[in-house]
Amino acid sequence: MTIDKQLSPKLSEQSLVQTSINPAVGRGYAHSKIILMGEHSVVYDFPAIALPFNKAKIEAIVTPSLSDHHILSSDYYHGVLVNAPEALANIIRAVTLTLESFKLPNLPLHISIQSTIPVGRGMGSSAAVVVAIVRAICDFYTFNISDYQLHFIVNQAEVIAHESTSGIDTLMASSSSPIIYRKSKQPVPFEFNVDAYLIVADSGQEGQTKEAVSKVRLLKEDKPSFVHNVMRSIGEFVLQAHEAIQNNDRIELGRLMTYNHYYLNQLEVSNTRLDRIVNAAWIAGALGAKLTGGGLGGCVIALAEDLESAQQIELAMRDAGAVQTWSMFLNGKD
Ligand code: MEV
Repeated sequence: MTIDKQLSPKLSEQSLVQTSINPAVGRGYAHSKIILMGEHSVVYDFPAIALPFNKAKIEAIVTPSLSDHHILSSDYYHGVLVNAPEALANIIRAVTLTLESFKLPNLPLHISIQSTIPVGRGMGSSAAVVVAIVRAICDFYTFNISDYQLHFIVNQAEVIAHESTSGIDTLMASSSSPIIYRKSKQPVPFEFNVDAYLIVADSGQEGQTKEAVSKVRLLKEDKPSFVHNVMRSIGEFVLQAHEAIQNNDRIELGRLMTYNHYYLNQLEVSNTRLDRIVNAAWIAGALGAKLTGGGLGGCVIALAEDLESAQQIELAMRDAGAVQTWSMFLNGKD
């Protein structure tokens, strides 16, 4: 499999000899993502809304390896890339695919990762690390990778990470704008200008996307019409939320987020810890709150009408067990 190639190596055989004096460096970045509404039902071709979330991000730095092997250096693992644990199989695959697909020289690389995206919290850390690494390798070889090529590689690499996906996580890792997404259709980017704050709270409990997706599949096999109706309702909430966003209607958006959480509960992907954080946000004055991502742990999001309210809600979510919170103003115009 070869994809269009526009290679102009920054690092030729000649320059490799000089690297001990002035090593070539490739850098790649990626951000986390938040599913605002529609997780799980999106796997069954109902719509979902997702946002890039720049408060948590990742940087990959590629330099020549001092050994004969590709080396990965991260908080989670440091050592020869091919010996990395199974959980990092997506990275091994992404590196191999990038080098082979674009016919890049297979020089031993040192790949170092710095990340503020918590792992396993439904914020897309798995796809983001792959995006950052692929971008860093391409930067190292001054290869101009297109969005389509990047998305292709990440999708191939991430097949390993999740059993059955809608593709929204991999898409969002490289998308710089909010999107409304359906599996069977082209994603539609849109402007998200709502006068409200989005709070993201890490429950401190690792989410289990793969288990949650299988759980929903089993529930669907067991109670097909119940699950179909729940998902159809979530799909309608998502479309109404899209309209509310376009009308800058934060009250309606918050209401729909809360309904979405209630319906995710019906799909049995919430748990007492997440519900406790959601409830704390409501009590502290959130316009809406829900789990985000796969559930069974991971993160909760809440909508606040202003900064003061956002700060109170963040405190309440921490009191209810959240270990970390971030907040972001949603009106990019300001
Ligand atoms: C996980 O971030 C979102 C899910 O809907 C799974 C997927 O869409 O692939 C639970």
